[in-house]
Amino acid sequence: MLLSLKNISKTFSETGITVLKGVSIDIEKGDFVSIVGASGSGKSTLLTIMGGIDKPTSGEVLLHGKDISQMTEKELAVLRRTKIGFVFQFFNLAPNLTVYENIMLPIVLGGKSQKDFKEKADNLLKYLGIEAQAEKFPSKLSGGEQQRVAIARSLIYEPEIIFLDEPTGNLDSKASKDIMSLLKNINEELKTTIVQVTHSKTNASFGNKIVSIEDGSIGEEVIKNKAVSIENEITVIETVSTENENIGGGKE
Ligand SMILES: Nc1ncnc2c1ncn2[C@@H]1O[C@H](COP(=O)(O)OP(=O)(O)O)[C@@H](O)[C@H]1O
Ligand SMILES: [Mg+2]
Repeated sequence: MLLSLKNISKTFSETGITVLKGVSIDIEKGDFVSIVGASGSGKSTLLTIMGGIDKPTSGEVLLHGKDISQMTEKELAVLRRTKIGFVFQFFNLAPNLTVYENIMLPIVLGGKSQKDFKEKADNLLKYLGIEAQAEKFPSKLSGGEQQRVAIARSLIYEPEIIFLDEPTGNLDSKASKDIMSLLKNINEELKTTIVQVTHSKTNASFGNKIVSIEDGSIGEEVIKNKAVSIENEITVIETVSTENENIGGGKE
């Protein structure tokens, strides 16, 4: 198992509110997992715990069997920079760095030689269709392009797994659809495991596992190729997975 959450609970000490109550999830290499749920249900909290940004109050976060919730902040920083990618709704690019420099930022921060990663960065620019933007600053790019840069940056160390929190939440429907197709390609071609949080049913259906968070616990879990859940959910998935679907509906 690539990533296994065992009975994760999270209480924020500031408020005393328990956001996650005994959440367990297994993520296998190559999975494309969608986490859905109402606003405030704990999706982002869960994602940050999965990715070692925040720690659970109790429970285990096993990455290749090793509990990352027990790691020191220093160990976690290295893990996050090299083994895990993160992509956020508002792109989080450095405004005064060019696209190329943003993609190289994890390399610079890691004290590695940019020369060793130049080919990788060039390939990612091509793969994500943002070659022409390489020397531009983020403010000159569309939202969709900025999100591609954030995705390229998340892939520079070839992580096994990337986490995306509402990656299309700030994009129009066309850009949103493009990003979802890209993620599908990344999952299938680069074999990167993907965990995304989304509001959109259509976007969720790109996942082979769809997990809903309800009142801090796992509500429904749909596993596509094993078809464990209710029939109409499965039908929805098959309908929206076709290549030329019309996503519709503007921002999610
Ligand atoms: N750092 C924090 N301190 C206190 N409460 C928090 C913190 N982060 C999130 N929460 C609370 O936890 C709940 C779940 O938040 P979040 O995980 O962001 O939900 P979602 O991503 O599903 O919208 C919310 O009630 C939110 O206010
Ligand atoms: Mg959130």
